Amino acid sequence: MKVEIPNIKLNNDVEMPVIGLGTWQLTGKTCERAVRDAILLGYTHIDTADFYGNHKEIAKAIHGTDRKKLFITTKVWYDNLKYDNVLSSCKRALEELETNYIDLYLIHWPNKSIHFKETFEALKKLYDEGKVRAIGVSNFTVGHLEEAKRVCSIPISVNQVEFHPYLNQKELLSYCKKNGIVVTAYSPLSRGKVNDDKTIIDVAKKYNKTPGQTTLRWMIDKNIIVIPKASSFEHLKENLNVFDFKLKKEDAALIDGLNKNSRMINPDFAEFFLSIGYNIKKVFKK
Ligand SMILES: NC(=O)c1ccc[n+]([C@@H]2O[C@H](COP(=O)([O-])OP(=O)(O)OC[C@H]3O[C@@H](n4cnc5c(N)ncnc54)[C@H](OP(=O)(O)O)[C@@H]3O)[C@@H](O)[C@H]2O)c1
Repeated sequence: MKVEIPNIKLNNDVEMPVIGLGTWQLTGKTCERAVRDAILLGYTHIDTADFYGNHKEIAKAIHGTDRKKLFITTKVWYDNLKYDNVLSSCKRALEELETNYIDLYLIHWPNKSIHFKETFEALKKLYDEGKVRAIGVSNFTVGHLEEAKRVCSIPISVNQVEFHPYLNQKELLSYCKKNGIVVTAYSPLSRGKVNDDKTIIDVAKKYNKTPGQTTLRWMIDKNIIVIPKASSFEHLKENLNVFDFKLKKEDAALIDGLNKNSRMINPDFAEFFLSIGYNIKKVFKK
């Protein structure tokens, strides 16, 4: 039986499913199969990016599914943030995904050499033309968001950031909540590390759930959207099975206590490479 996935209403009234399939490092036939399996299981939300190079595989996998029932997020890469480049990146994404609109279009990373103003002007044009239903950002700090708010004339609906028990982004989450921005957690399973965590294993046992399910629920209970990546059918199925329980306050507090401000995907590291002109695509594809 297909799982019914709840939505979160964004600040422009667009409804976004609380769980989506992350597709970074899913390519070729594996990507196609995983996305097809995900849809069979009831996933309605797919997270991709120009950088992931898998738009075409996703298009093949969603072929035949009612487009209105899907929520597709994609992202414009950091070196395409100039006005014309945003428009051409979006045009290419629409062609590759074989769709007339993107549900949520994000700035993948801030780029300190291109001012947000021109990027947001291009995003506004896409939004006004109906090519994107909502816009947002990724890897933005509170400082970036403050600047973005100053120059962007349409609602910034989402900030997608690294978020898991070891990086619980308290200050950023509170800022986003106050400003009506929904947080999407990337690498929500800490790229698999939560499976070996003694505290999470112990909490999970109380609910007869796995550490991964418990971790995803911990975030959903905070009104955070989660986009775990999974390639096997079993993992895809397991990650969706998180809507029949809720963590007690004391158990959520145990997971809150695991924070170490420990980042696996480090924006400073990225900025370092950007500043010396290093090819970041190569770094991430390793
Ligand atoms: N905006 C950004 O800059 C940014 C950066 C990073 C990630 N993201 C997005 O966030 C998504 C998720 O993050 P992520 O891929 O870094 O890491 P993740 O979702 O935290 O972890 C993925 C890893 O966990 C494994 N896994 C999944 N379900 C499992 C389960 N039920 N039991 C045991 N292991 C399980 C996967 O294995 P299998 O594949 O073998 O199933 C994979 O190795 C990405 O795919 C991407 O869409 C965005």
